[in-house]
Amino acid sequence: MNDFLELAKRRQTCREFADRPVEHEKLAKCVEAARLAPSGCNAQPWSFVVVESPDMVGKAAECVAMNGMNPYAAQAKAFVVILEEHAKLMPQIACMLDSQYFAKGDLGAAAAYFCLEAESQGLGTCQFGIYDRPKLGQLLGIPEHKQYAALIGIGYPANPEVRIKQRKPLDQLVRSV
Ligand SMILES: Cc1cc2nc3c(=O)[nH]c(=O)nc-3n(C[C@H](O)[C@H](O)[C@H](O)COP(=O)(O)O)c2cc1C
Repeated sequence: MNDFLELAKRRQTCREFADRPVEHEKLAKCVEAARLAPSGCNAQPWSFVVVESPDMVGKAAECVAMNGMNPYAAQAKAFVVILEEHAKLMPQIACMLDSQYFAKGDLGAAAAYFCLEAESQGLGTCQFGIYDRPKLGQLLGIPEHKQYAALIGIGYPANPEVRIKQRKPLDQLVRSV
């Protein structure tokens, strides 16, 4: 798909995944897209943990689908955790700002690039905000001090229907001068 706005409209949170495995090559392309995201001072303050072996995917899903929340995590065929890494800013900027100052925005861009690349390959994604971080960290060998920027479930959508986007109207968000 060449029309970026169409891709952005099609990308939606997938909460029903098909029982179909996700090809390693497709996941690799999603990570590659995320790696190409822009970042302040090109610091690239991220790393990626890709969970794709069925055994680990099942165990990771148990860390997400808990207390009756996010039950569809159990259908995901892969997960990626995006971790925040130390942002090494250019010295003239680092002396003015905390080194992680841009990192949150950078990590959001990386997550968006990941999900949009997934969409362009016909995959569905669901970002999860609530999950058992200590349990997931232990499972994946993630050091306790790490900041989690995103946890994304991936699979083929079971339902191809594109929902109408619920968004604030443009005139409430934009002021042109
Ligand atoms: C950081 C973040 C955390 C989210 N956490 C969850 C979640 O735990 N469960 C869920 O079903 N959706 C989750 N979502 C999806 C949002 O609800 C969704 O992006 C929003 O409603 C807009 O819908 P759309 O993605 O279909 O356009 C999350 C999204 C983001 C960006």
